[in-house]
Amino acid sequence: MDSISITQPDDWHLHLRDDDYMRAVLAHSAQRFARAVIMPNLKPPVTTVEAAQGYRDRILAALPAGSSFEPLMTLYLTDNMRPAHIRAARASGFVHAVKYYPAGATTNSDSGVTDITRCFDTLEAVADAGMPLLIHGEVTDPSVDVFDRERVFIERTLGMLVQRLSHLRIVLEHITTAEAVAFVRSAPDNVAATITAHHLLLNRNAIFQGGVRPHHYCLPVLKRETHRQALLGAAISGSPKFFLGTDSAPHARHTKENDCGCAGMYTAHAGIELYAEAFDQAGALNRLEGFASHHGADFYRLPRNPRRITLRRRPWPVPQDFAYGEHRLVPLRAGGEIGWSID
Ligand code: DOR
Ligand code: ZN
Repeated sequence: MDSISITQPDDWHLHLRDDDYMRAVLAHSAQRFARAVIMPNLKPPVTTVEAAQGYRDRILAALPAGSSFEPLMTLYLTDNMRPAHIRAARASGFVHAVKYYPAGATTNSDSGVTDITRCFDTLEAVADAGMPLLIHGEVTDPSVDVFDRERVFIERTLGMLVQRLSHLRIVLEHITTAEAVAFVRSAPDNVAATITAHHLLLNRNAIFQGGVRPHHYCLPVLKRETHRQALLGAAISGSPKFFLGTDSAPHARHTKENDCGCAGMYTAHAGIELYAEAFDQAGALNRLEGFASHHGADFYRLPRNPRRITLRRRPWPVPQDFAYGEHRLVPLRAGGEIGWSID
């Protein structure tokens, strides 16, 4: 197959940042995806409906003329969030989910949840509102090996949450392990997962290819090949529990090429094309549409997109970097080639 036409996809996990940085990256996503779930880990985090509204307005104002891209806003769960905040979020009509970062797990997660058992009344309200809870599933316990943090989160926290809040819809975000795939598969239908293109295409060798590669550092960190194979198997399985979430996470070049470099890969410049590569390599392009364009919309209870897009097997060169406010941004595959193009 040298070309494929699919329903226009959505990105169910995207970091856009704000202001000049947001304006630098937004068009890449808007050219490809009809909608995206916008992560709330700004500084300060998006914890109120008012903050989400202001952020949404800035995104809409920055869209290229004629774009109908729809940002689906999220609220950042904190220890202090109350059920009334959740009800206000639901009533807004533009907040579509609540994001749970364990405090300290990743970029701008300092205000995250310190003890999820203290949030149960708020999580009940999330469930009653019919909104998904989006989970960054890694423990922050420094004694746990960084490559085991997702597996241990599933053992220590996620199993308990799923049992205790059986009517809460949960998306385990950017899964990276065979254990996460197995957990989600065997969980009830209210539990789903997003998978990034970089975790489908790369294993942890990419972090150390001939030297340390800061642009291949993200969280959860890339895992060994057996885990990549398990993720690919889930993505191409046709199961409605698995869907596209790029986790495209822009950071200025100097903050990644640094003695304490930031976590995150920028993939929005090829947000759907990279998935086409991964599905093509697996001989499963026929499963791309479900994963990229149907399963997420169905899980979020939103209509599937009316438009279609066409992807072609036509390589294109990736720039070394992009303008990013006053800085530069290094995309995945910088200076290399991507095998699929979008018409
Ligand atoms: O690599 C990551 N970057 N993982 C995250 O969870 C956050 C993200 C970011 O915001 O930079
Ligand atoms: Zn993310």
